[in-house]
Amino acid sequence: MTFSPELEAKFAKMIENYPPGRQKGALIPMLLYAQDEVGAVTGEVIDEIGRRLNVSRVEIEEVLGYYTMLTREPRGKYHLQICTNISCMLTGGEELFEHACKKLGVGNKGKTPDGRFSVEEVECLGACSWAPAMQVNYDFHYHMTPEKLDQLIDSLRKLQ
Ligand code: FES
Repeated sequence: MTFSPELEAKFAKMIENYPPGRQKGALIPMLLYAQDEVGAVTGEVIDEIGRRLNVSRVEIEEVLGYYTMLTREPRGKYHLQICTNISCMLTGGEELFEHACKKLGVGNKGKTPDGRFSVEEVECLGACSWAPAMQVNYDFHYHMTPEKLDQLIDSLRKLQ
């Protein structure tokens, strides 16, 4: 398997930044970049990155099981991650998550039939001071309310 020339160049630079025998330190960023390009961490991606870093499939599966930002299944074009951990829970995070699911007609980790939106309940996003917080892909949104969420989803629906 090969990736785009740009990603191949990035991978080569990342791997050479680690001393011999320590290249597995590049595993998580490589998985994230591959996921962004391919749409998910597929079996083919696992095998290819594992081969390049000399990391077993089992080790990679363990990483995938721990880090929620990595996924085996393709997500929606706009992936909504809504925090329901303590600070967000106390400021309406659970209601926000339920509102998003209801508005989009999906459950946790569900995806709309058109593939445009997916929703996931997540642990702390590190934005507790601005709770309730959520992310759309890599963009953070703070002090969210159901009304602000409606506006956000409606504005995303207008995009290509
Ligand atoms: S608890 Fe939600 S961002 Fe920390």
